[in-house]
Formats: sequence, C-alpha cells, structure tokens
Amino acid sequence: MRKAEELTTNNRSGDVLSACLRAAAAAPSIHNTQPWLFRVHGRQVSGAVIEVRVDRSRRLEVLDPDGREMFVSVGAAVFNLRVALAAAGFETAVYRTPENDLDIAARITVGDAEAPSGAALSLHAAIARRHTNRRPFADRRIPFGTMEELRGAATAERASLLDVGPDLRGAVLSLTRTAEKRMRSDPAYLRELAAWTNPSSVGRADGLPQHVLGPRDKDASLPLRDLGIGLGLPTAQVEFEPDPTLVLLYTPDDTRGDWVRAGKALQRIWLTATVRRLALTPMSQLTEIAALRDLLSDSGTRYVAQMVMRIGYPLSPALPTPRRPLPDLLV
Ligand SMILES: Cc1cc2nc3c(=O)[nH]c(=O)nc-3n(C[C@H](O)[C@H](O)[C@H](O)COP(=O)(O)O)c2cc1C
Repeated sequence: MRKAEELTTNNRSGDVLSACLRAAAAAPSIHNTQPWLFRVHGRQVSGAVIEVRVDRSRRLEVLDPDGREMFVSVGAAVFNLRVALAAAGFETAVYRTPENDLDIAARITVGDAEAPSGAALSLHAAIARRHTNRRPFADRRIPFGTMEELRGAATAERASLLDVGPDLRGAVLSLTRTAEKRMRSDPAYLRELAAWTNPSSVGRADGLPQHVLGPRDKDASLPLRDLGIGLGLPTAQVEFEPDPTLVLLYTPDDTRGDWVRAGKALQRIWLTATVRRLALTPMSQLTEIAALRDLLSDSGTRYVAQMVMRIGYPLSPALPTPRRPLPDLLV
C-alpha cells in the first residue's frame, strides 16, 4: 500500500505508467511486429484509463489477413500491462472491446492502490526473463502439478489448454510440417518474412534479429518455423528432444474478443511457465491455414484452436529481441 501511495503523492505517476507500458511492450508478438499502441487518459496512475489499441500498419498482410495474430499479440501486451500495474500496487478493471472502435483491444481502468500480491510480483519478475526459446529442450517430462498450473493459467482467462499427449502428437506435428512446407513454397510469405528478419548489420527496434532464429531439427521431425529462410540464411541442424511436449490453446469462440483472450491466456501461461523455469516456442503455422486449423477445432463444443506451443526445460537460455521506444507507442 505505502509503495503505491508514495509513487502517486510524490508525483511519480508518469514514471510508474511508463514502466508499466514498457512492461506491456515486452510482450511476444508475431515476427516481433509489436502491433500495439497505447492511449492514456489521466495524469495520476489511480483513475487513469489506458486504451490498448492495435496498430494495423504492423499487421502481416500475407500471414495474418484477418488480423487474428495481431490481436493475439496485443492481448499478450494487455496481460503484461495488468500484471505490471498489479505489481506496482494498482487494481485494474478491463472493459470489453467496444463495437464502435474496432482497433481497441482493451480499455483498462486503474483503481486504487493496494498491496501487490505475491503472485503479481512473481509474474511481473518473469516478464523480463521471458524470451522465445527455439533451441532444444531437455528430454524430461513436465510434472503433472506444473501442467495443472499451466492449465489453470489458461482457465483464469476463460481459455483452455490441452496437453496434446503421445496419441495426438504425431498428428499435430504432421499437420504443422504440412503447414510449414506450404508456407516455405509461397514467395509472398518468404518476402514478408524477409522484411521482418533483420540482417546482422542493421540495428532495428523490431523484427527478428539473426541471433534468435534458432537451429533446425536434424531429423526434420519437429517443424519449428524456419525464420531464416526469408533471407536465405543457412540454418544449423541439431538434435531436438525426441518427444516434445506440445499443448494447444483454445478459446470458446473466434471473435476479436476471443483473439485478445487467447493473447492474455498465452501470456499468463508463458509467464507462469517462466516462473517454473520452463521455456516455450509458439508453433503457429498450423493455425494460420484455415483448413488445418478447422481440423483441430470444434465450434460445436466451443473449442476453437488458437495456437500450438512447445514447452520444455531449456538446455540453453534464449536471447532477447529488441523493442521500440515508448514514445513511438503512444497515441
Ligand atoms: C501470435 C504469435 C505467434 C507466434 N508464432 C511463432 C512461430 O510460429 N514460430 C516462432 O518461432 N515464434 C513465434 N512467435 C514468437 C515471436 O516470434 C516472438 O514473440 C517475437 O519474436 C518476440 O520475441 P520474444 O518472444 O523473445 O520477446 C509467435 C508469437 C506470437 C505472439
């Protein structure tokens, strides 16, 4: 309580808000496009209203024609923002996306100061440690209790996490290989990927730097997205874990609100996994091709597939990607 009060009464609200917005911008995004914008109403943290908006100029036209993955990415930023505000000692309320402005992903009202919970503090500490890890993981099972925690993280955002398990794993890997192969043969996809892959000589604040591209599976069994192929960069081939742990993220429907929900759930799962020293690789190729995505979805039972993820104990740490400066993100 005291901490939050001091921050506002010492007129340091601007610093607190800036730190929270920077935490929001540390979220993952498809190809590190960082498709978010923030509009802040109010000068004090308490009582401020923060609109989190999509920046449509950053949507991937080839890979993401409907903007689904753009909204998923922005949903992850919304979750980070709430966690950062909670860790700074502020209650938040999130209002549904209004129908008259299709670019608003969430409107967050900041409430009164309160003592931050231990959970908020540990999720907040994980924000800076979370990076996409595209390297081999240990050949080690994730304990049941930890998987339960990850499932609980999805449920907390009214999404569901399905552990793919050995029976379904072959099918999901095979469908992802099909998706990856199809994308690799599409010149428009390759051009778009190249535009977001940074040659080592160019210092950019977005996109994928070469140091994060990751190796390829020697056995060609685990189809992680080949991110170097756009620029024709050679990819090292190494051995990956033989039985990767795959999970599928579902939402009840497929509206804009569900896409934002998927992003919030993704990030809650990812930060929870980070606290447990687990690493994660989104493998979203399958869900980017409607026909393949439909195979894993069942709208009758309200299970719409949003993302495939690989989770495991990393053998080596992942490196961070750059982020744009805060002034560029403010409306
Ligand atoms: C919706 C979404 C889809 C993604 N799909 C993939 C993917 O298919 N393959 C991959 O290697 N990374 C994927 N990523 C991870 C992004 O490339 C990564 O978040 C971004 O480059 C920023 O890096 P960071 O996560 O290390 O901060 C995805 C991220 C999001 C939010």
